Parts: sequence; C-alpha cells; structure tokens
Amino acid sequence: HEPIPVRELAQKLSLKMKDVGERVLRLGGPEEYYNWTPETKVDLDVAELVGLELGRTVKRMAPPENLLEYRSRVREGRGGRRVEWPLRPPVVCVMGHVDHGKTTLLDALRQSEVAAAEAGGITQRLGAFHIPGVGEGGEEGGLGITVLDTPGHAAFKAMRMHGALATDIVLLVVSATDGLQEQTLEVLRMLEEQWAEEEEDFRMQRGGEGGKMEVFSPSLSLMVAVTKVDKLHGEEEMQAALSKIEHALAAHGIMSEALGGDVQVVPVSAVTGAGLPDLLDRVRLQAEMLELRADREGPGEGVILDAGMERGFGMVMSVLMRWGSLVQGDVVVAGEQWGRVKKILGARNSPGKDGEGGGAVDRALPSMPVRVLGLRDLPTPGQEVIVVKSEERAEAVAKARREAAERRRYQETAATEVLGEEEQE
Ligand code: GTP
Ligand code: MG
Repeated sequence: HEPIPVRELAQKLSLKMKDVGERVLRLGGPEEYYNWTPETKVDLDVAELVGLELGRTVKRMAPPENLLEYRSRVREGRGGRRVEWPLRPPVVCVMGHVDHGKTTLLDALRQSEVAAAEAGGITQRLGAFHIPGVGEGGEEGGLGITVLDTPGHAAFKAMRMHGALATDIVLLVVSATDGLQEQTLEVLRMLEEQWAEEEEDFRMQRGGEGGKMEVFSPSLSLMVAVTKVDKLHGEEEMQAALSKIEHALAAHGIMSEALGGDVQVVPVSAVTGAGLPDLLDRVRLQAEMLELRADREGPGEGVILDAGMERGFGMVMSVLMRWGSLVQGDVVVAGEQWGRVKKILGARNSPGKDGEGGGAVDRALPSMPVRVLGLRDLPTPGQEVIVVKSEERAEAVAKARREAAERRRYQETAATEVLGEEEQE
C-alpha cells in the first residue's frame, strides 16, 4: 500500500490542499506530518481518516492497483458503479412507534422469540440480526438480509439514529389499528433531513463548473409495513386502514404506490404470517435495485452500534461492517478509542461458527453485524471503526480525536457561558 502525497490526495478529493494538510497534522502522526508540505506522503489509513473528517469517501482496497477510490457519499449509496466489487446483503433498519410491532415482526420473519424475552415487552437496545438468504430449492444461500431492530420508545432517539446511520433501507412499521404516531413522524422527519443533506451533497458534487445535474435519487430508501392487520375485520376495514395510513404519509410527503408515488406499503401480520413472504420478496427486490456492493478484501470499516461491558467478555462493541474485512489481530480506531481485535463474535442470536447464537467468526465482512472484543475503552455508538496500520497510529489518532472533542466541548461551554451572561443583563 503506497502512501500518497498531500497534493494528490487533495486533488483526488477535490479539496483544498491546506484543509487536507491541516487534517493530516491534526490526526497526530509521525514528525513529518506536523511540518507537512504538498509532497509529504501520507499512509492510506490516514488518507481514509482525513476523507472521513472532510466528508469524502476514501476506500482502501485489496488489489494493489486500485489502492485509492473516492466517491461522494451519494454515489456510494447508489452503488453499482463498480461491478468488480461483490454484492453485499442489504441492511434494513426497522423503525416505528413504540409497541407497533417491530420486534414481533422481525421474530416472525426470522422465526425467533426475542419480543417475548424483552423486559416489559419494550426494546431497549439496538438489535442486529441476519436473515439467511434463500438459494435454489429453498436451502440457505444467496445474500440474506441484515436487520436492525430499533426501540420505538421516545427515550431512545439516539439509538434509533445510530441504527438509521448504518442503513440502506428503512422499514417503517405502522400499526394498522393505531396509524401514524409521534415516533413514526420522528422517523419521517429524520428521513427528510437525511434526504435533504444528500441532495445538498449531490448539488455540491455535480452542480459546480460544467457540472450537470442528474435527477436526484436518495440513497436511503423507505418501505412501509402496515402490521397487525389480523386485528382488522374484512377487506373493507383493511382498505380503510391502509388508505388512512397512506394519506397520512402523503401529508408528510411520502407517496405510496397507490397514491402515485414509489413507496411500497405492505400489509402484514406477525401473528397469522399474512404478507410476510411478500414483504421479504419486496425487500430483496428493492435491495437488488439498489445494487449494493462493497470490497471484501481491503482493510475493514464499520459503524459502532453499541458498546458496553459484558460478563465473561469485558469490553464488547457491536459493529455493523460496511467495507472490507475485519480479522483477529487487526488494529482499529473506534471513534475516540482504539484497540487490537482479540475476538470477533457473530451478532447475538445469529448463528456463528459453532452454530450457537453469537459464536466466534473468522472474519467480519460488509453488512455483517458482529461483536468485537479487544477495545481499550468504551467507544461511542454512531462513530466509525477503521482498521489502521499500527498500534502507534491508532493511539495517536484516538488521542488527537479525544483532544479535538475536548476542545469542542470547552468551546461549547464557553459559548453557553457567554450566552448566560448576556441573558442575565
Ligand atoms: P418497542 O420495541 O418497544 O418499540 O415495541 P415493538 O414495536 O417492537 O412492538 P412489539 O413487537 O414488542 O409488539 C407490541 C405488542 O403488539 C405485543 O404485545 C405484540 O404481541 C403485539 N403485536 C405485534 N405484532 C402483531 C400482529 O401482527 N398482530 C397482533 N394481533 N399483535 C401484534
Ligand atoms: Mg421492539
């Protein structure tokens, strides 16, 4: 993996050299980074970290001839441009109001019983599972689907957002009997913001000099499952409930197919199983259209879903892999923390090597939810995990990030204090 001069990195990312150089310096690296010049060569893990901080995507890949790849986030989300990358399973994030039936729906889809085991019947953690693909003859095969179960309770907004961050498809669950509720609307607002942001990125990317605007198509797609339809009596009630929900969605700019838009609304029941095969088919079709691809060989990269102490394991962080592969012994920066991967376990309740839920796996690949052991300290969910070259690098980057965060907090406190004084006058 050849290092790249600051000048070339800035050029490839269409960024100012000064901005790139400053980031390189701030990441805390070897001496020469402090006195960087346009010719200073930076390692590719540093290039990726710089890209991340400046809103550009830098990917490291295994074949040494394509070491560096950069694309806007939007284009990455659209996927499919580089067919040499293998397809990866779609990540579906299930979101919706509390008690509308998210966990029960997932249980029905993957034939498990998570909902029944939950304290008070309320989801309090981000769950990550894998639904195996179906190959020919109904056997396991194909890509499968990764699903994230989010809590619907108002108190867990941050967790919902972490789930949504790592997602390709948001599956909005709406109870047929209750219709759109507060957290349903919160999800819609979040999508709206996300799409607006993507559109903005897209304009910046394409709208510049000589740039041509293409029709904007967001990378995060939405599907709606109207659940608990077994509680409705007869076709008429069903049509009335669906129509009510579809019109309520339309009032928030989400147009269903029935109303001339392209958002699929699928009626289901987790109790009778009605509509479930149809829902899975549609998710798979949607994923095919998105044509999600990722390199599986290069250094790994993912998002932290959750982190905490677990009895018998110590510090465990749940990670959703997005790129490359992660193996035992890899050195990672995880947000403001770092560590050396001691062990990788399958997601809870997903089959690992030993057939049991959460067993050890040899390597984590794109779209796989895994639990990683070996972090030094508690990382923050929502932040990225990236494989870097050495422990020294990891330690320096983590330290630099902690210091930057410290400075931000300090500035924020200072700002509030000033405001406070003004208010008192
Ligand atoms: P939070 O995770 O707390 O946001 O809730 P949730 O959306 O995961 O809801 P959960 O799956 O825990 O279901 C809430 C209640 O609705 C439970 O009592 C379920 O048995 C019931 N329920 C879920 N799906 C269906 C369904 O399709 N039909 C019927 N009749 N009841 C359902
Ligand atoms: Mg739940």
